[in-house]
Amino acid sequence: MRHIELLLTLLALMFTSTSETCISRHSITAVEGEFFYLRYCSSASEHDSEKNTIKWYKSSGSHGRIELNSSSSPRITLHDYVLEFWPVELEDSGSYFFQMGNDTRKWKLNVIGRSKGSCFVEKLLTSKTVEVQKSLHIACKHDYFQPLANRTSLYKNCKKINNGANPVLQKNAEFEDQGYYTCVFSIPHNGKLFNVTKTINVTIVGDRSKIIPVLLGPKLNRVKVELGKDVNLNCSALANEKDQIYWNLWDENGKEPNVHEENIKKNRALDGKLYVSRMLKIENINAKNLKFSYNCTVASEGGTDTINFVLLKKEDMADIPGYIFTRGMIVAVLISVVVVCLVIMGVIYRVDLALFYRHFMRKDETLTAIVDEIHSLIEKSRRLIIVLSKSYMSNEVRYELESGLHEALVERKIKIILIEFTPVSDFTFFPQSLKLLKSHRVLKWNADKPLSYNSRFWKNLLYLMPAKVVKPRGTESEVFPVLSQS
Ligand SMILES: *[C@@H]1O[C@H](CO)[C@@H](O)[C@H](O)[C@H]1NC(C)=O
Ligand SMILES: *[C@@H]1O[C@H](CO)[C@@H](O)[C@H](O)[C@H]1NC(C)=O
Ligand SMILES: *[C@@H]1O[C@H](CO)[C@@H](O)[C@H](O)[C@H]1NC(C)=O
Ligand SMILES: *[C@@H]1O[C@H](CO)[C@@H](O)[C@H](O)[C@H]1NC(C)=O
Ligand SMILES: *[C@@H]1O[C@H](CO)[C@@H](O)[C@H](O)[C@H]1NC(C)=O
Repeated sequence: MRHIELLLTLLALMFTSTSETCISRHSITAVEGEFFYLRYCSSASEHDSEKNTIKWYKSSGSHGRIELNSSSSPRITLHDYVLEFWPVELEDSGSYFFQMGNDTRKWKLNVIGRSKGSCFVEKLLTSKTVEVQKSLHIACKHDYFQPLANRTSLYKNCKKINNGANPVLQKNAEFEDQGYYTCVFSIPHNGKLFNVTKTINVTIVGDRSKIIPVLLGPKLNRVKVELGKDVNLNCSALANEKDQIYWNLWDENGKEPNVHEENIKKNRALDGKLYVSRMLKIENINAKNLKFSYNCTVASEGGTDTINFVLLKKEDMADIPGYIFTRGMIVAVLISVVVVCLVIMGVIYRVDLALFYRHFMRKDETLTAIVDEIHSLIEKSRRLIIVLSKSYMSNEVRYELESGLHEALVERKIKIILIEFTPVSDFTFFPQSLKLLKSHRVLKWNADKPLSYNSRFWKNLLYLMPAKVVKPRGTESEVFPVLSQS
């Protein structure tokens, strides 16, 4: 049982194998310059004993039947069921006969020329249609050529895309994949390479499943138009190949003669979607066109969709803005002139403007300047002489005193000399820090009239001041300060 099964499988394999490589078609076309073969479709029941009765014949034109043998042509080889051409040429066209015992087989061979500038012959194509997004499978497989070939190449539109023992293209089809796929089998024979090309014309078609068509854009479209001008209304839909798209242009009064429905345009996107569009052209728009409602419909078995266009009169551009435009221009020019004048005036009278501004704002920058001046002078000093006098104690002096004390006591840059002109006890305001001053730094003025240069008071003061070369007498008046009680 098992053996019979195995035998049947083997037989079936042998049969498929031979039926794929043998040539059962009656009429065959080959390309000049390529390797070509004829093979008798033997059935498995035929006995090997009959093989030695095999004969091959050719007949062409006026020549009768000629038996073929290895010496008939250097380009042909014969073995058993196969006749091979290395390569086949135009002169090989004709009828070929295979004879074995009582069995005869006939083929009609037509050899055609090569196409110049192309890697394939357009007349020798097989076609294949693939739906977009479905599997696209192209393999350079041939039961007879493949075992003989030492190289196989796959070309798309004559550009090599794949190389190797078994080039295959396997992907989800896109519209870009459409084209001519050529397999070139390069078969070595007697030290030369012979080519066999097989080309498939691959067509990619859209998704065959139906969709419910939809028109693109809003359902109601208001289009601004001018009387006497033309307008094009665009009606586009996502639809199926066989769907209808049309404009409803008829009412009880018939159709306006200035309205023209254009031809349908179809455009398939890369993703397989089909867009159909149909334009409506309205020439020399008149008042009747403004009253009409232009409806565009797409219809399929699955349903319909309609969109609506109405024409609105565009407000006449020249009417209203006519004088408004002129006035607007005049105002704009006037404003520009005024602005330019103001800028020029500002530049010329800037001094007067600044003075006016100061007067108006009652601005007094001198107040703060004083303070800065005092501060910088104090910074340059090495001694701070404080004369305690009631009549002299103003706010500015207070500031002077305080910043001086800061320099002396905090920064420790200057030394303090205190001259008591009025006794300390008479002051309501008296900085605490001054009370800490060493006693030799406090000088008391006890006289009613100026003291002489040699007096103890001036000598003590000179001593507390930084040492300096004494100038000649001419400058005396500057050196001696005058203290007087007011
Ligand atoms: C290849 O297929 C396409 C689509 O079917 C067809 O239009 C074209 O004519 C075919 N090419 C040849 C050379 O037959
Ligand atoms: C194919 O065969 C030819 C002829 O025998 C030889 O010259 C060539 O190198 C071979 N190519 C490869 C890729 O094996
Ligand atoms: C065979 O095809 C190859 C490309 O695969 C090409 O280069 C070579 O010229 C062809 N040979 C013949 C004899 O046509
Ligand atoms: C009409 O509209 C569609 C979709 O917006 C567009 O693809 C098509 O090019 C338009 N047709 C014209 C003639 O403008
Ligand atoms: C277009 O559609 C609107 C609204 O559905 C309808 O009132 C109008 O009569 C239609 N126009 C035509 C010419 O069919």
